[in-house]
Amino acid sequence: MSIEAIVAVDNAWGIGNKGELLCRVRDDLKNFRSVTSGKTVILGSKTLSTFPNGQPLKNRRNIILSRREDYKVENAEVAHSAEEALSMIKEDENAVVIGGDSIYKLFLPYCERIYVTKFDITLPADAFFPNLDELGWKIESESEEFLSTPDDSPAGMKWKIVTYVKS
Ligand SMILES: NC(=O)c1ccc[n+]([C@@H]2O[C@H](COP(=O)([O-])OP(=O)(O)OC[C@H]3O[C@@H](n4cnc5c(N)ncnc54)[C@H](OP(=O)(O)O)[C@@H]3O)[C@@H](O)[C@H]2O)c1
Repeated sequence: MSIEAIVAVDNAWGIGNKGELLCRVRDDLKNFRSVTSGKTVILGSKTLSTFPNGQPLKNRRNIILSRREDYKVENAEVAHSAEEALSMIKEDENAVVIGGDSIYKLFLPYCERIYVTKFDITLPADAFFPNLDELGWKIESESEEFLSTPDDSPAGMKWKIVTYVKS
């Protein structure tokens, strides 16, 4: 079993504000799709509720974390603890943690690689990812720098993808 995470952060490792993402960059969403497609995604019930119609992601096995015993989601499985979620993942399965704040923190000890999209901006945020540089994670690779397009929010922002591995 391999556990990875994918996250998009601003310069202060902010990941969200008032339940919403900080930035919307189409090419980064493409990267999210390519990293997670065909794999198992692990997410919290609050992040699921931000998806279109609150629907799980297609072409992926969705494991949703909730403490509610009666919580059910069509086309997804529910786990009530990190241990339960981990027990549902098979030996040869690749899982990617996709948020939010509390679920990233819960699974960080189990992650071996984290794909971090870094937006070169600092925005008001109330949800954060742990600062991997301060935690001593190593940079495995770094993309070139991209510029967000006029269709993105915000436009004209520099961004890149940095892959970290546990040192
Ligand atoms: N930038 C990014 O890459 C990115 C990605 C995803 C999300 N986000 C942002 O992150 C923010 C949401 O984060 P969040 O922490 O509020 O919500 P979340 O992590 O998506 O979901 C929290 C929910 O997960 C369940 N949960 C948490 N800990 C649990 C545990 N130990 N065992 C079982 N269930 C547990 C609870 O569900 P119940 O209430 O059902 O019990 C809890 O309310 C939003 O702003 C979102 O936009 C950012």
